[in-house]
Amino acid sequence: MMDSFEFTKLAGAVLSALLLIFGTRTIIDMNVGHHPEKPGYTLPAAPPAEAAAAPAGGAEGAAAAPAAANGEDVIALLSKANADNGKAIFKKCQACHVAEKGKAPTVGPNLWDVVNRKKGSYPGYQYSEAMQKKGGEWSFDQLAQFLHSPKAFVPGTKMLFNGLGSPSDEADVIAYLATLADTPVPLPK
Ligand code: HEC
Repeated sequence: MMDSFEFTKLAGAVLSALLLIFGTRTIIDMNVGHHPEKPGYTLPAAPPAEAAAAPAGGAEGAAAAPAAANGEDVIALLSKANADNGKAIFKKCQACHVAEKGKAPTVGPNLWDVVNRKKGSYPGYQYSEAMQKKGGEWSFDQLAQFLHSPKAFVPGTKMLFNGLGSPSDEADVIAYLATLADTPVPLPK
């Protein structure tokens, strides 16, 4: 015969089982019900090729368009680069760089006369070890690669800048840098 104590135990067991079943179903429903169709964000597509900036090489450029731009694309754009546009873009660089002759460097080195200057050589500026060891001069080629991806070109650089993201903007900035000298350096043809 079932006494009341045993009945309580049984009722408790039944109740626990029911709770477990409903609880589990609720958790399953919650998860199923809230699965979004798509994630709430989409990754940006690769930036469009700079076709408009390279009318001469149009067809060729489109056919050979690489999946990701690199420093060589920047150099290819230099001969038609726009230094005036580069001057406007250079405002971003001015967060860290001055570029007037003789002016004391700020966060980064003074960029007056930087084209063909020895890397890491502005007097009185404390460069990173990586930059001091890089070697060579800031030719157009080296500037293009550095500005396109500072961290990739000089791993360990203290220039905390990800590049402008647009090869034609990068070419324009380099064209502007080339004007900042007593004797401006002609752009490559
Ligand atoms: C957030 C700050 C910052 C920004 C923005 C920035 N730079 Fe720099 N830049 C630096 C620092 C710091 C260095 C020194 C790097 C080192 O020693 O590793 C540097 C170094 C350089 C150098 C090497 C110069 C030399 O004397 O060897 C060039 C060229 C340069 N920057 C160009 C640019 C240009 C062009 C832009 C804009 C498109 C830019 N930087 C934006 C901080 C910055």
